[in-house]
Amino acid sequence: MGKDDYKRDIAIDYSNVMERAVGPEHGLRAGELESLAAKGKEIHKWLSGLKEKKEIGFFNLHEADTLKIKKYAARVRERYENFVVLGIGGSALGTTAINNAVNRNYANLLTKRKRNGYPRLFVADNIDPDHFGELLSMLDPKKTLFNVISKSGATAETMSQFMVVFDMLNKKLKGKWKKKIVVTTDPAKGILREIVNEFKLDSFEVPPNVGGRFSAMSAVGLLPLACAGVNIDRLLEGQARMAERAQSDDILKNPAYLFSSIMYLADTAKKKPMTVMMPYSSRLYGMSDWFAQLWAESLGKARTRGGNAVHTGQTPIKALGVTDQHSQVQLYVEGPFDKTVVFLEVEKFHSEVKIPAIFKDKPDVSYLAGSSLNELISVELQGTKYALTEHQRPNLTIKLPEINEYTVGQLIYMFELATAFSGGLYDVNPFDQPGVEFGKNFAYAMMGKDGYAALKAEIESKRK
Ligand code: PA5
Repeated sequence: MGKDDYKRDIAIDYSNVMERAVGPEHGLRAGELESLAAKGKEIHKWLSGLKEKKEIGFFNLHEADTLKIKKYAARVRERYENFVVLGIGGSALGTTAINNAVNRNYANLLTKRKRNGYPRLFVADNIDPDHFGELLSMLDPKKTLFNVISKSGATAETMSQFMVVFDMLNKKLKGKWKKKIVVTTDPAKGILREIVNEFKLDSFEVPPNVGGRFSAMSAVGLLPLACAGVNIDRLLEGQARMAERAQSDDILKNPAYLFSSIMYLADTAKKKPMTVMMPYSSRLYGMSDWFAQLWAESLGKARTRGGNAVHTGQTPIKALGVTDQHSQVQLYVEGPFDKTVVFLEVEKFHSEVKIPAIFKDKPDVSYLAGSSLNELISVELQGTKYALTEHQRPNLTIKLPEINEYTVGQLIYMFELATAFSGGLYDVNPFDQPGVEFGKNFAYAMMGKDGYAALKAEIESKRK
């Protein structure tokens, strides 16, 4: 293999969202995308301004120096069996998505030697007491490093997990607990930074101008991924490649703007308020989860940037090929005409699994004999595309020549940029999340946080 063989570009095939494939009622007319051209240029200017003024920082994450992370990861590799992420939402989903995509399947079941010495990676995410309690009971605290990740340092779920771990390490390891915690948070603000300074804990920074769900390629994702053996430089190279391909203000030439414009027109002109993200790859299933948060939390908004009521946003739906052919696809093919299906297609899998040439005298299965799972999954994907298209259901395919850090880095950045651009199309702020804050405040009030007594009283009076 040549040293640059991993550098393959991802590509979008949108022929099946067009009128000639799915008919005039559900498909886009030739020229319809071009109708967004002028608006696209304005949005490009707005985004470029945010980038230049450094108000929004995810655009530049590929330019950051990764040396400190790589050095730290090398030490972690020598010392630890387990690496546990305590974080939620944007502080967890990107790490899971990328790790599942590029690391070995079932890596945590392998011996340390077969994991090339890297620790097992666990992303605790939810605060389900069974899930978290059982994880802690399984791990030897002496051989485990906990990475607490919270940009705000205020998230009740992460902070409660942190407090449980802090206390457990203190009790079990006495004076030696400090080296078992590494914190990723704002460089200056918040209680976590205060704790880092007070206890002199190891720490990394979430750039203040990078929001949670846009932070997968910052230390939020890069530290745990590097510790789990992912080549983070190639991930960033992938982002850089997409940033280079996505420089144009022409929506037809910019893959991120193209994806965003198609989804916007599907929603607003063709009444498709749902986006199904359906990788035909188990490795990429975490991408649907990560994308769902990015798309939903960024675009599901009550008000325009000018303050008018709008209630926008496409509902993202997670699906997995081929698994959901036996579950949700019936609905997509024959149910309401309210979805656009996005396939993630892998052209070359890492493994090839042959189906043996047996049962040749049994016609019900002999057609499979001598083929491979690779061929079958590819044919089944073509079959789902065919069924959807024949039933006038728009569908789009993002092709990954193979799954590696470089192609996944491109995918992540393409979706992030597409989301920001969609904010412009819908005229909403894609970088805030007032609805999430609303729920967070409820938890603060009901758990008795200082400053929330009035809100608690208001909630309780409404419940009477
Ligand atoms: O995208 C976002 O901003 C959110 O999903 C946050 O990532 C999530 O709420 C966790 O926040 P924090 O990192 O501040 O704990």
